[in-house]
Amino acid sequence: MSKQSIKIGLFGFGTVGQGVYTVLGQTKNAHAEIRRICVRDINKPRETVVPHELLTADADDIFNDPDINLIVELVDNARASYDIVTRALRMGIPVVSGNKAMIARHLPELIELQQKYDTALLYDASSCGSIPVIRNLEEYYDNDLLLEVKGILNGSTNYILSRVFDHGENYDAALHRAQQLGFAESDPSFDIDGYDALFKLIIITVHALGRFVPAEKVFTVGISNIHEADIQYAREKGSKIKLVAQVAKVDDSHFTMFVMPELVDKSKYIYSVDDEYNGVVIRGEYYDRQFMFGKGAGGYPTASSILSDIMARLHDYRYEYKKMAYVDRPEYTTDIEVRVYIRYSTTDVPGRLNFSHIHELHLTEQSNCIIGDIPLSRLMEQRDIFDNDDVFIAHIPTFYIDRDN
Ligand code: HSE
Repeated sequence: MSKQSIKIGLFGFGTVGQGVYTVLGQTKNAHAEIRRICVRDINKPRETVVPHELLTADADDIFNDPDINLIVELVDNARASYDIVTRALRMGIPVVSGNKAMIARHLPELIELQQKYDTALLYDASSCGSIPVIRNLEEYYDNDLLLEVKGILNGSTNYILSRVFDHGENYDAALHRAQQLGFAESDPSFDIDGYDALFKLIIITVHALGRFVPAEKVFTVGISNIHEADIQYAREKGSKIKLVAQVAKVDDSHFTMFVMPELVDKSKYIYSVDDEYNGVVIRGEYYDRQFMFGKGAGGYPTASSILSDIMARLHDYRYEYKKMAYVDRPEYTTDIEVRVYIRYSTTDVPGRLNFSHIHELHLTEQSNCIIGDIPLSRLMEQRDIFDNDDVFIAHIPTFYIDRDN
């Protein structure tokens, strides 16, 4: 596509779609224009006004337009997103997508389609909004040195926790505000139950370590059971509670992944990542830590990332998935010990979890709390405990590999 201008068929005109339309209209050197926008209802009132002839409800108006040389897919529904993206790739049309749920579920097939039909799918906007984490992992960190990628990958939960933790606001009011501001998913349980962060982590892991791990295999717990007692506990320890996703090498030939609230100490970079911001810490051999910070949710921050992927197509950029071809890739494991804080009242947490080691146990009339070490595999087996609303878990981080000390 080099030197040719980009003619875009856009699917979806919600918060991010409208952001892309506006951002593209204000970008002087974009060499890209939106030719057609496919939406479910062309008459729906929208904040951003566009010429009526740009809108269509028929996907064929885009797929049958020979001038369109890039599909930008920003629909809310994962099934519809899959149909659009796979159809475009099969036609050899490159695609930019922000649909993390769809990408995280179908990435191996989407990689195959890109190779088979010699075309590209770019999705930096799917992970961490405006932070260019995927392209950096793919290009700059194209080596064996990565030890860990960890961070706050969900803007909505971080916004809610900041409002509750730092401003003493009510959880439900903060969630409602996150929805109003366009940070939360249309079904906000994806955010608060940790799945949005998990989908981003799965995509990040493909580009960090060259391994695809299906969602079902990753221990994931969100923030919905957080209680004043947990906030109080964290404050007393000089920490904050954040929803953290991480992929980490645990030895030379294994890595692990999980998503759960974490007691984040003041000394950590992500301690100061508040509101809808995301923060990603990349740790590697020889360079210790690097930190990327930026807005992780919202129409314009995400649109800026989509714009970057659109511009990358001007230079025929595509992901090469080089790490997936490495001979010596680490294997995924949940056979590791993690240290956790668990607060509970009626559920028999000690009886069901059988901790390897208990460091602290506090029993009171209102609630109990354990700090202990436990295999991640056991947490996975007993995952349903964390659906009980009297149980809240937070990770207390420990290093797996530390070659700098
Ligand atoms: N709901 C997502 C978030 C949007 O809150 O981070 C950006 O992916």
